[in-house]
Amino acid sequence: MKNQIDMQNLPRHIAIIMDGNGRWAKKFFMKRSAGHRAGAQALRRLVEEMDKAGFEILTVYAFSTENWKRDEDEVAYLMGLIHEYIQQYISDAEDSNTRIRCIGDLSALEPNLQERIAHLADITKEKTGMLLNIALNYGGRDDILRAVRQLAADSIPIADINEATLSARLDTANLPDPDLIIRTSGEMRLSNFLLWQAAYSEFYATDILWPDFKIKHLYEAITHFQKRERRFGGRKS
Ligand code: IPE
Ligand code: IPE
Ligand code: MG
Repeated sequence: MKNQIDMQNLPRHIAIIMDGNGRWAKKFFMKRSAGHRAGAQALRRLVEEMDKAGFEILTVYAFSTENWKRDEDEVAYLMGLIHEYIQQYISDAEDSNTRIRCIGDLSALEPNLQERIAHLADITKEKTGMLLNIALNYGGRDDILRAVRQLAADSIPIADINEATLSARLDTANLPDPDLIIRTSGEMRLSNFLLWQAAYSEFYATDILWPDFKIKHLYEAITHFQKRERRFGGRKS
């Protein structure tokens, strides 16, 4: 697959809705938690390979503002797993060139986890490799709401409220909008991911369940992406 790709024309910003951990576990008669663990490992592997391959920005949806509605046990397991993997990325940081930040409303997370997330961002901020944004307690509506509140808090005059001033207050400030949004497990919806930023993103859905997703699947998605004509509402005459 990789040899069918124009490496000079990679999407700058790729976003992934990592879905299907539960169904993956079910397929093997395992608990949902085992699916989440396999999913976290799949991400770690993919990030390492994408960074080596020269990708620029990856944003992944790890926990939505709606995922708190799941069973208490599952939420607790996910939070523990996130903590464990943040710690793992901290340990990996010395030998890695990836810049890692978390986006979303992090204030709702355990103070301990918030501190580890801030530490990870701090020790990787000077890295020159791929930027990884992990969306935790992220919701597109919440992102926009927090940006609007920030506009108000900054006393921005109505005449100065525009796409640029709002975009600059989103979690993705200073980043290009995602060129390509991939969702695994066959679902065809955004589930509140990057609503504002997805305005002209190309959407690609695959039936692969997230724990099975490998870099070859990413290259498959990019092959499709590179065949699309992005018009942004304009028309070629
Ligand atoms: C995605 O897998 C991970 C999170 C949403 C945290 P799911 O847990 O949604 O897996 P399915 O959709 O039930 O298979
Ligand atoms: C979206 O998946 C959230 C993440 C992948 C983190 P969900 O499994 O929560 O979405 P729905 O409920 O199928 O829309
Ligand atoms: Mg799901």
